[in-house]
Amino acid sequence: MEIRSVFEADVRSKYVLLRDDFNVQIVDGEITETFRIDASMPTIKYLMEQGARVVICSHLGRPKGKKDPELSLRPIAEYMNIPFIGDCLDKSFLSNMKDGDVVLLENLRFYAGEEENEDTFAKKLAQGFDLYVNDAFAVSHRAAASIVGIAKYLPSFAGILLEKEITNLTKIMEKPTHPLIAFVGGSKVSTKIGVLKKLVSVADKIVIGGAMGTTFNFVLGLPVGDSLYEESMADTALEIINIAKENNCEVLLPLDKGVGKTFSKDAIRINRDADDIHDDDVIMDDGEKTIMRNKELLKDAKTVIWNGTFGMAEWGKPWARASFELAQDIAHFTKTGKIESIVGGGDTVAALNACGVFNDMTYVSTGGGAFLEFIEGKSLPGIKVLEK
Ligand code: 3PG
Repeated sequence: MEIRSVFEADVRSKYVLLRDDFNVQIVDGEITETFRIDASMPTIKYLMEQGARVVICSHLGRPKGKKDPELSLRPIAEYMNIPFIGDCLDKSFLSNMKDGDVVLLENLRFYAGEEENEDTFAKKLAQGFDLYVNDAFAVSHRAAASIVGIAKYLPSFAGILLEKEITNLTKIMEKPTHPLIAFVGGSKVSTKIGVLKKLVSVADKIVIGGAMGTTFNFVLGLPVGDSLYEESMADTALEIINIAKENNCEVLLPLDKGVGKTFSKDAIRINRDADDIHDDDVIMDDGEKTIMRNKELLKDAKTVIWNGTFGMAEWGKPWARASFELAQDIAHFTKTGKIESIVGGGDTVAALNACGVFNDMTYVSTGGGAFLEFIEGKSLPGIKVLEK
């Protein structure tokens, strides 16, 4: 699939509507994680250097068509040190823009037409612009007005980040160096059915951990105590195990667990074998043997894909042990040139940052849901509209 690249566009003195994904966490007006903003900079700089008049738009959170000051993009404009326009449909400032100027518009999702991909909203948004650039990989799985509908009204191109995501993720899925090991964590099998089915058909080994691993252990008749798992996913889990068998992919489940007596970060951590979980145990991390097993697995890997943490990693230690050790081990093997590592998903990226190993991965995707859908092989609507 070939898409139109921003490098093919003549942008000098043109009004460019640039779609970024600045859906970042903001607590008390402070941005806690700037990865997505920083990753958008190469396209912004390129457009400025080329003399475009750049108007950035983005969503933040899920305000459902209502103005919510808590979800204003103003703190991002302040972080970037660029002017802020308080309504994404305001056009009055355009005539004052000069070549190389950049501004940021207010949250697109303050209008219901954005998420509904409403034609009239897309048309209004497009008004006053000469062309459109999509650099928002992380939201390109949503058929929104600023992602899909807009392409009907403006010549549309892919930004540098979007192209980089496509290149890196396509390479890993189409031409991985084997052995390929996928580590998949997170809480719900139900949100990752498609990606699990895909990964067991391309990977040599898949390690399933966290609450998702608990669901798989439950399906195999192991005790799970008072823990989070999805009983309704039993048939799906068995189907995934069967697809793995047909494709010679080894499925590795948690051997043991870090448990407590209450679902609390202050609970005392006890290590228990997977077949010895007590009725009142709450599983909150993968256990010591599982951590050691994962470490050993990495020694034979050439490519690693990781999505989803293995326990309550956001609570930090002691419940982040399995996720943090994996992050450090993947970093070590990547730095020594033994493996190529691809990581995606907000919680997983947070774990990399908490361990200070973000820059040691081969590639970190800005996508969460978009990363999963791309890996699964789905056609992302935001990319499809940019096809040549
Ligand atoms: C994300 O954070 O994954 C994207 O910005 C999409 O957000 P959404 O799930 O609210 O559509």
